[in-house]
Amino acid sequence: MNEIKIFDIKTTKVEHSKVNEIDLDNVTMGFNFTDHMFVCDYENGQWQNPRIEPLELIPTHPAAMALHYGQAIFEGMKATLGKNGNALLFRPDENAKRLNHSADRMGMPLFPEDLFVEALKQFTALEKNWIPSKVGSALYLRPFMYADEPFIGMRAATSYKFIVMASPAGPMYSRKIKLFAEKKYVRAVNGGTGEAKAAGNYAAAIRPTEYAKANGYDQVLWLDPYNFEYIQEVGTMNIFIKIGGKFVTPDLSGSILSGITRMSVIDLLRSKGFEVTERPITISEIEDASNNGTLEEAFGTGTAVGIAMIEEIGNNDLAIKFPENNPVSVMVNDTLNAIKVQDIKDEFGWIVETK
Ligand code: COI
Repeated sequence: MNEIKIFDIKTTKVEHSKVNEIDLDNVTMGFNFTDHMFVCDYENGQWQNPRIEPLELIPTHPAAMALHYGQAIFEGMKATLGKNGNALLFRPDENAKRLNHSADRMGMPLFPEDLFVEALKQFTALEKNWIPSKVGSALYLRPFMYADEPFIGMRAATSYKFIVMASPAGPMYSRKIKLFAEKKYVRAVNGGTGEAKAAGNYAAAIRPTEYAKANGYDQVLWLDPYNFEYIQEVGTMNIFIKIGGKFVTPDLSGSILSGITRMSVIDLLRSKGFEVTERPITISEIEDASNNGTLEEAFGTGTAVGIAMIEEIGNNDLAIKFPENNPVSVMVNDTLNAIKVQDIKDEFGWIVETK
């Protein structure tokens, strides 16, 4: 890996910020973008020219390899405002590691992790005015890497771009959600790309998600590709189920995304005295727990969704319903939100100041 020194990031600022055109108290993630972007080029075997510049269109050759062979990966992060108005990041080092895990699987170059964290700090500090202050809102950060070499043929590209952009985001769900246990399409098989945050994984999920939504569900619950029994993850989240007082979440089998919210929730629940087991769990076990009265709560975890409380899982023609009260899910949501805005002490060392 080449050595770019962190002080090499060149910043060119916009003349006029667009931030005043947006009502940050009422934003929906993904529609509005901040003034700047961070860009770094990979050429001749080296990451070079790290820079923050005004957000603009990127000229793309029609043969850019990402468009044809899908060498495209991304991360999701959120920045919040701390007590003295400074911008905070949540475990950016974990995103840096996961990006490289994805890059490795997709035959892409690794990105220097210290540069990743420094770039995110400088970029977020610059875009601080775009961070919504409402509880549960945040500035969603989207680091991504794609192959921009123009070439027709099947091999790893030799040139890439790493970019970070940002979009102010309100809470994704303000109600409980319904999942559809998918028994026709699959998300991931062992040895595939399920553990990578690869754009193609999301592309393959779009049609099944549309079908689920057309039938009144919010997201797809993916099952194992062999017997459609073991639960894997949900469209944009990992999943936790509380049965008989204990939490279970599917273990990272190699085909499940290693969620940063997931790992944080495991630590948080354990610190509060809950037992959390990472193990294979079947949809039948959840159905049995529902039938014998031991099914207590379920929620999804993800950067974009935060904590999404689950109301129901549609399994064949049956609706597995969760009890209305879900006090632990609420506690997890509130605690994470409070840590992220420094309302309570961050005992875990997750929060990173940007300046
Ligand atoms: C995230 O939670 O950051 C994601 O990547 C989900 C995204 C597809 C909206």
